Amino acid sequence: MSDLVLRRIPFNFDDVEFVWNPGNPTFSMMMNAVTFQAIGFEKYMCLAMRDAEAVITDPAVLEEARLFRAQESVHSNAHRVHVKALVGRYPGLQDVLDESVAGFEALYASEDLPFHLAYAANIEATFTPLFGTIIENRDALFSGGDPRIAALMLWHFCEEIEHRNSALKIYNHVVGDRFYRTKQLKKVFGHIGANAAKINAGFRKHVPEIPESAHQSAVKALPIPFAHKARLILGILESQTPWHNAEKSRVPAYYKTWRGRYEQGQDMSVLNDLSLLAAHA
Ligand SMILES: [Fe+2]
Ligand SMILES: [Fe+2]
Repeated sequence: MSDLVLRRIPFNFDDVEFVWNPGNPTFSMMMNAVTFQAIGFEKYMCLAMRDAEAVITDPAVLEEARLFRAQESVHSNAHRVHVKALVGRYPGLQDVLDESVAGFEALYASEDLPFHLAYAANIEATFTPLFGTIIENRDALFSGGDPRIAALMLWHFCEEIEHRNSALKIYNHVVGDRFYRTKQLKKVFGHIGANAAKINAGFRKHVPEIPESAHQSAVKALPIPFAHKARLILGILESQTPWHNAEKSRVPAYYKTWRGRYEQGQDMSVLNDLSLLAAHA
């Protein structure tokens, strides 16, 4: 039985700033790029999962696919609320979203189901090391910023960690060739990398307030210890190997903390108490 949970958080991003963390414009831009990328990517995955569900023969895998698709759909809707607020401030950003979504729609039209499932499994596999690193450095990255964006990202990242094995499980059931997934690496990361570059170019075009330093700097400029960055790179490399098992990925303690707070009925749409960011399980 799948343990994925659907959580609809009542996010509100009215008047949110593009640079939502003035102390860290680079990270602000990166998280905004997550929002713009996620909508197209998650729509693409939902289409792929719908197709996969038609050929899945194991009831447990089918249940996982349905819940996985539902979680991704809820994520996408929350990021749309964020985009809507940003488009209200910078109308040209609608084109950035439309172009990103169109890129994923074209990919869905031009490739087959095994490729779509490999794409989903490969990208999703990077999320536990990537988002786990962000979660473990949440104080340095989110503090001083808009607590609603911290809430959006930490919710999404915790649920990505929760369903870390779903896409791989579905891929293994429907496609089953663990080497095919690794063979698609170049194409998968080529597509998502090109899409990210278009989003960043769109930000540059439509949001003149972004400081040039944010365009110039990269992940290496983020306030994350070197050891965490090294572990992140190793984790991403491992996630793309044919023998990767997401069940064994390192899960940050905060996932349990976040989940516990949600289950206690706390408002997870705003994380404005630093202890919420800092506390460990
Ligand atoms: Fe997601
Ligand atoms: Fe996901």
